[in-house]
Formats: sequence, structure tokens, C-alpha cells
Amino acid sequence: MDIVTVDGRDAATFERFFQLRDDVRRTEQEFPAGLGLEEAKVLFAGEHSDMRVDGIGLVDGDTWLGIAWLDWWLQENTHLVDVELAVAPQYRRQGVGSQLLEIVAERARQEGRRLLSGIALGDAETGESAGTAFAVAHGFVRKHVDLHQVIELPLPAEQLDKLEREVPGYQILQWREHMPEEWLEEFADALSAMTVDVPTGELQLEATQWTPERIREAEARRVKQGRTCHTTVAVAEDGRLAAYTQMGGAAGTPDRLYQWDTFVRPEHRGRKLGMAVKIPNLRSLQAELDQPAVLHTWNAPSNAPMIAVNEHLGFRPVAQRSNWEREL
Ligand SMILES: CC(C)(COP(=O)(O)OP(=O)(O)OC[C@H]1O[C@@H](n2cnc3c(N)ncnc32)[C@H](O)[C@@H]1OP(=O)(O)O)[C@@H](O)C(=O)NCCC(=O)NCCS
Repeated sequence: MDIVTVDGRDAATFERFFQLRDDVRRTEQEFPAGLGLEEAKVLFAGEHSDMRVDGIGLVDGDTWLGIAWLDWWLQENTHLVDVELAVAPQYRRQGVGSQLLEIVAERARQEGRRLLSGIALGDAETGESAGTAFAVAHGFVRKHVDLHQVIELPLPAEQLDKLEREVPGYQILQWREHMPEEWLEEFADALSAMTVDVPTGELQLEATQWTPERIREAEARRVKQGRTCHTTVAVAEDGRLAAYTQMGGAAGTPDRLYQWDTFVRPEHRGRKLGMAVKIPNLRSLQAELDQPAVLHTWNAPSNAPMIAVNEHLGFRPVAQRSNWEREL
């Protein structure tokens, strides 16, 4: 058995690694979500100020048995490494996942990380799966759960018309890949506030400190990845950004779209600003669709208002996603 290190520079190795991960996602999920090949390649092969991404493959001759995908955070959360394991269905329950985990734990220790963190996808009702059983067997502790909801787009225009509400006192603005210069500072502040506010259970996570430079770096990365991003914001009378929402997808996986953040500043809550930014953003997103697509979103069950807004739009639950941690 060989251990192969994958960093994105050798295209053939990277594609083999990615293929296994993608095949496993497609068999585990009714509605597969996640990065396409080109998006992933940019993460693995590029230089980023906030993260390094690499992987490990367990290979027997020409056969890839399993992989580990590792996200090493470089600015915040330098105490942990995020790990995703995927083992080909025909090689499960033979210790492949355990062997990969051991290799990862050793590397993490060598790099001075003290925490392994990972996500397991599970059944919509029970939350359980092979991944959660594996995590329990290896001493991981479940620290947070998100409900995964989906909806098929495009939604009928009449449905959006019915849901659209103007909120007096707020101006709605939209932009695409590049944020207008005048909103950078304010948006960096709102993004940082969002990472503090979003429920993350008992996860040992540090909030992300967004800056204008970091926003521009993330935008450039998204463009390289072939991603699209639709942003709608609500601006209050004092000129401050009161709410925002972002949605998008990638050219390589046109059937997968994502509802990323929706955030309303605490002092502007209770005025239906969430819906006031979501509906115009959905219109912008689906105006460009040339085929039906699935819009994915994840929210903590404790974030009941957001889940209710989504249900109101027609989203339905398809899975639970749990976050696990293990001290090293
Ligand atoms: C989770 C996964 C990586 C496990 O890989 P694996 O090679 O089968 O794992 P191992 O053979 O090393 O299993 C180790 C132990 O985990 C537990 N386990 C693994 N799969 C299990 C299952 N389906 N049901 C119950 N327990 C299970 C068992 O305790 C097992 O020991 P045992 O076989 O001696 O009983 C694999 O099922 C997979 O790729 N699943 C889909 C992706 C995923 O969920 N990844 C994990 C999140 S990062």
C-alpha cells in the first residue's frame, strides 16, 4: 500500500484523488453538493494567504482505496486541521479510513495543530451514517449540527412576486463578482460580524477577521475557480449596510447552486430584511440559469427563523451535516 501526497501540482494525481472524493459524495448524497474539479484545483494548486489545502491518498497499485482532504487554516483557527475522509465503497470496513486518520493525526501533530475537526453527512431524520459511526468509533465528539435544505430552481416568477416586500427606509443594492470599492470597509465589517453571530454550537472556532484586502483576494480566487456570486444588500437611511445575502455556483457544476450567508445586523432585525434581500438575489441568480438547478443551504436547527424563511420559500430538508472534533 502506498501513501500518496496530493498538492494539485500533478494534474493526473489530483484528478484521481478528486474523482474518488466526488464518486463517494455522489453515492452518499441524494443531492450532491461541493466543489467541482476546477474549483478544487485552484484551492490545491494556488497560494492563498488564509489557507493551504492538500490531501493524502491510500493507493494499491493503480487502485485508489481512500483519500483524506485537509484544510489548514493560516490566519484564524491555526490550532486545528479540517479533515474529510472518503473510502471507495468496495474497500470499506477494512481499516482504510482508520489508517488514513492515523496518517492525518501524525501530520497534524508535526505541524503543531492540536485539534482534528471534520464534517459527517447523515440521514435527514436521524443524522446518522457510516461517517458518524466512524467518528464515534475514533473518539470524535459531535459539536454542532446543520440541517441541509434544497429547492429546485427556477421558482415561478409569481411565487417570487408574492413573497417580495419592500421595507420602508432601506435601499436595495446589488452587485456581482466585484464589490464596489465604496462598500469594502462596511462589507468586511458585516462579514466579520456574521462569523461571530452564526450559530456554531460548541465548536472551538475563531471568528474570521475580514478586511478589504481579504475580500479582494477571495473575489479573485472565486473568479479563477469559475464561480459566480450574486450579492444583494439593504442599506439603512444612515448609509450603513443593514443586511446582505450572497448566492452563487460554479461553471463546472451548473446544477449546484448555493445560498451562502444571509445576515441582518442585530439592530435591524425583526423587519423582514432577510426576505427583502433574498428575493431580489434569487431573481438575479435564476435570471442567468440556462438549465434547472438545485439551490443548497445549511442552517443550525437552533436558527429557527432562517429555517422557517427557507421553508416558506419551499426548501425541504434532505440531510443533516454534523461537525466533529477530536483533541490530539
Ligand atoms: C466513514 C468512512 C471514511 C469509513 O471508512 P472505512 O475504511 O470503512 O473505515 P474503517 O474500516 O477504518 O472503520 C473503522 C471503524 O469505524 C466504524 N465504522 C465504520 N463504518 C461503519 C458503518 N458503516 N457502520 C458502523 N460502524 C462503522 C467501526 O467501528 C469500524 O470498525 P470495525 O469495522 O472494526 O467495526 C467511509 O464509510 C466513507 O467514506 N463514508 C462516506 C464519507 C464520509 O462519511 N466520510 C467521513 C466524514 S469526513
